[in-house]
Amino acid sequence: MSLTPIGEPRQKITIASLREKKLHHEPITCLTAYDYATARLVDEAGIDIILVGDSLAQTMLGLLHHTKAVRRGVKNALLVADMPFGSYHVSPDEAVSNAARFVKEAGAEAVKVEGGEKRADLIRRIIDAEIPVTGHIGLTPQSVNVMGGYKVQGKTLAGIEQLMRDAVALDRAGVACIYLEGIPREVAAMITAEVSAPTIGIGAGPECDGQVLVIHDILNLNFGAPAKFVRRYGDAAALISDAVHAFRTDVISGQYPSDAESYHLPKETQTALDTVLERKRGMRR
Ligand code: KIV
Repeated sequence: MSLTPIGEPRQKITIASLREKKLHHEPITCLTAYDYATARLVDEAGIDIILVGDSLAQTMLGLLHHTKAVRRGVKNALLVADMPFGSYHVSPDEAVSNAARFVKEAGAEAVKVEGGEKRADLIRRIIDAEIPVTGHIGLTPQSVNVMGGYKVQGKTLAGIEQLMRDAVALDRAGVACIYLEGIPREVAAMITAEVSAPTIGIGAGPECDGQVLVIHDILNLNFGAPAKFVRRYGDAAALISDAVHAFRTDVISGQYPSDAESYHLPKETQTALDTVLERKRGMRR
């Protein structure tokens, strides 16, 4: 296993390097990001894939817009953009042209499409248009109304069979990787052993080829009860809240800005201004 130390020059992550990692059992890391600053920090920390996920809960325009911002912050990570609900459901032609917008206009290197077996032909069409696709099966948030809530999938024999068919169909269609969300670890392990595409788990146990979490979840910025699989690695909520309170207090009490935090006139301008003001005062007397 090769662990590049943080801060060392890194190689650009490509779809081929994800496969290499799977073959060498090197865990793949993935986080979401929706803006330039976050993307830059995530990229510089050595994360392999940055996903502009529709956990952002935006429209097509929003996701394109945010992917463009994230693009500016990403140097080495593979940039994947989620295709939002409605952008690939109407017709294959529309799906291909929407996917192309993410690559052409926003600089994504792959798109993500939710769904298994039933999306395999569509995914082939997008790949035929030279656009790499990542798959997403299990608890697929865009189908939440059909699934009747955010429920762990693949808990019955029929459910396992369907997930296996979904994974194999995506693998055969040529996806770059498969996100496995909200499924028992035993099922994720079977899928990971079965397919050649790397699997990236979220709530799918440790046997996946890699792991993804939503950045707001690991930073305590989601304001709700976290899902079972979320581990918090920092408390940005406390950090932001403390900083904002301190700023407000300083402004209200006159402590901010100080003289050192203010710009000053050049000496000559100040002298000239004093002369003008003095003259004006003299005229008023
Ligand atoms: O929308 C998203 O962020 C996702 C990942 C969590 C897989 O789909």
